[in-house]
Amino acid sequence: MSILAERLGRIKPSPTIAVSQKARELKAAGRDVIGLGAGEPDFDTPENVKEAAVAAMRRGDTKYTNVDGTPELKAAVAEKFKRDNGLDYKPEEITVGTGGKQVLYNAFMATLDPGDEVIIPAPFWVSYPDMALLAEGEPVAVACPQNNHFKLQAEDLEAAITPKTKWLVLNSPSNPTGSAYTQDDMKAITDVLLRHEHVWVLTDDMYEHLVYDDYEFVTPAQVEPGLKSRTLTVNGVSKAYCMTGWRLGFAGGPAALIKAMAKVQSQSTSNPSSISQAAAVEALNGPQDFIAEHNEVFKQRRDLVVDALNTCPGLACHRPEGAFYVYPSCAGTIGKKTPDGTTINSDTDFVTYLLESEGVAVVQGEAFGLSPYFRISYATSTEALEEACARIKRACEALQ
Ligand SMILES: Cc1ncc(COP(=O)(O)O)c(C=O)c1O
Repeated sequence: MSILAERLGRIKPSPTIAVSQKARELKAAGRDVIGLGAGEPDFDTPENVKEAAVAAMRRGDTKYTNVDGTPELKAAVAEKFKRDNGLDYKPEEITVGTGGKQVLYNAFMATLDPGDEVIIPAPFWVSYPDMALLAEGEPVAVACPQNNHFKLQAEDLEAAITPKTKWLVLNSPSNPTGSAYTQDDMKAITDVLLRHEHVWVLTDDMYEHLVYDDYEFVTPAQVEPGLKSRTLTVNGVSKAYCMTGWRLGFAGGPAALIKAMAKVQSQSTSNPSSISQAAAVEALNGPQDFIAEHNEVFKQRRDLVVDALNTCPGLACHRPEGAFYVYPSCAGTIGKKTPDGTTINSDTDFVTYLLESEGVAVVQGEAFGLSPYFRISYATSTEALEEACARIKRACEALQ
């Protein structure tokens, strides 16, 4: 009898973490590697946030807190939802966890019975299907091709809903494509959901603040208030506030669901770090102007990368509205041969070739459920991006 549970066989380790790990290993072995795999801003956590954490430690905020968040943080989250999204959530409708990741995991653990279906538009963030599987649910991927800007279409959602559907997961702006739903896109989706009362929507708004040009962020419960009683609005401080390592995420939703999620958390990690919670209060309540400054830099990098990739033979890249990812097609490289005679048969072959020939680490589209594409995270220095794009171009030009 194996010591490992059967459920572990159903999931795989996060492929994006695996790429970052591989890039780190190659670097440690002396290779010149540019890692474009990691989904985290290269900017440091703002100073006022760090100071708030130091003050919390000095004050003695170093003990257990309420399982799903201190009253101060819940108040700051309520204020954030009101200010940014026009949504009213009471403290008992707010939960705080160790990263958005734990909040999502709690939601699935608290709601999925074996066989319950979770509709996940593809390409998707790598963790949704595996989290649903761990909770014994059934992920149902719905292809969202590039001609629709990688966005879920109302008719495809309608066709995917069955009596067993429990959740629709939405993620806008998206990891891995950066595509974001407009008010009209979102309304088309919420109109379908209004007709199917048994389906809940889990919206992962982690990249809410990372948006460019004239795009305006929307979230389902704001676009359709009639859905608020079956919406879980997930967000966190990792991306916009450059706090990936602090592990702090939160959500607003109906009190009964929030209570059930706290029950899961109470038997796993209990409260997120008391110090991270104090820092998050300052992040949410403190000055927000650095976000626009960062976005200016991210937008320049996005344009740099998109323009450069579109000069590479075999690649084609859209210009997304948000997040810090692009998801170029590598369809034009499929069937070509590398200088050592290997045929590129898939996006996995292509990213392996990029890493081995030019030391550029990106993530294959296969991991995100839509091929043949790959994901580049442009949350790294402009110099590194310029060098990486030059290397990618050289690699593409060398294909026969
Ligand atoms: C779409 C999406 N959701 C959630 C998360 C989790 O963020 P965290 O757990 O750091 O809050 C990430 C992180 O990469 C993400 O890309």
